[in-house]
Amino acid sequence: MVTTATHQSVIHFSRGVPPLEAIPTRELADHAIAAVREVPGAMFQYAPLGQYQGDPALREEIASFHGFEANQIFVSNGALQVLDLLASHLLRNGNHNVYVEAPTYDRAVQIFQRHGGQVRGIPMEEDGIDLNALAKYCLTCSPAFVYTIPDFQNPSGITMSEAKRQAFVSLASRFHFTIIEDIPYRELRYRGVSPPLIAKTPAGVSDIARVITVGSLTKILSPGLRVGYAVSDPETSRQLATLAEGTYLSPSPLCQAIAARCMKASVVHANIERVRQLLKPRHDHAVTAARRLLGNALLSVPDGGYFLSAHLRVHTDEATFVAAAKKEGLVLTRGSAFYPPSSAPPAGTLFLRLPFQALDPEDFALGLERLVAIADGK
Ligand SMILES: Cc1ncc(COP(=O)(O)O)c(C=O)c1O
Repeated sequence: MVTTATHQSVIHFSRGVPPLEAIPTRELADHAIAAVREVPGAMFQYAPLGQYQGDPALREEIASFHGFEANQIFVSNGALQVLDLLASHLLRNGNHNVYVEAPTYDRAVQIFQRHGGQVRGIPMEEDGIDLNALAKYCLTCSPAFVYTIPDFQNPSGITMSEAKRQAFVSLASRFHFTIIEDIPYRELRYRGVSPPLIAKTPAGVSDIARVITVGSLTKILSPGLRVGYAVSDPETSRQLATLAEGTYLSPSPLCQAIAARCMKASVVHANIERVRQLLKPRHDHAVTAARRLLGNALLSVPDGGYFLSAHLRVHTDEATFVAAAKKEGLVLTRGSAFYPPSSAPPAGTLFLRLPFQALDPEDFALGLERLVAIADGK
């Protein structure tokens, strides 16, 4: 349900969770029942052991969805689990340098650090990561990998341009680092045409091992299914499967079978269209309100995804600002949490992530009005 606030009630600019109405629960239930009826034994047993890369039917569906081969697909329990396994795999050889966008998804940074990653934030520009800054750091110290969220980034909303994707892949070849592109919001485009996957840019295709794509069904089918995947070279896929078996033995066969059936029966395609229709008006109203109330503080005007974001000029520190907002009925996530080590928002500003996907447009605008009033000290 869209949350509807009154002038007294609380508005949440906090979590980037899919609204319940974006999840096709009836179709999911039907396919769950059908999967259990068809092969009950397999659904309630461990999956086969020995480099099991995921449900074969699901891997075929994911491969054809993105235009890859099934032997390149490894399926796990959500994209975060995939990132955890990838960090373990890519950081095993002693190079612990990891470069990420600043700001970026805080949970990914925590995962990389847990695996010993020395994470450095590289500033973002309007069209994606600042490649000049990245090249400068690479000259001193080439990373094991660079993590990017190239489409409707969490938290900024920024999309990397096609030209930058090409230059990024060239840089990866020059400095021999792997790119991880994490694409959970890619299909949620409300206008325009998507640039190619980084793994599909010309330089990327010729050296596919250098770009690993991480996808998720969380935003286009269901977060509760916990289905995410990596697209890499077949050998890396097998190595991830070995790591997975050593970590959790087996994914849930039932969840992967439901996902495979939903992809095959076009439930996912239909749901992507439905979610676009559902979120486009919320996006359009949010953009209009943000342009009116935030002006130049807005970091980008995305054509999709869940988030707008801003560098808001303030006269207090973040903790005081967040507490003042709470008093005024506005729940904010601390923006500094999205800035990895050695990075920060511009001096005198706070970074604010503004998720619009679950808010009624009037409430979004009301939330921004409260925000601006607090920043102005009114
Ligand atoms: C960039 C990014 N990656 C991964 C995830 C989590 O995906 P999953 O639910 O598949 O673990 C999120 C969820 O918010 C996200 O924003």
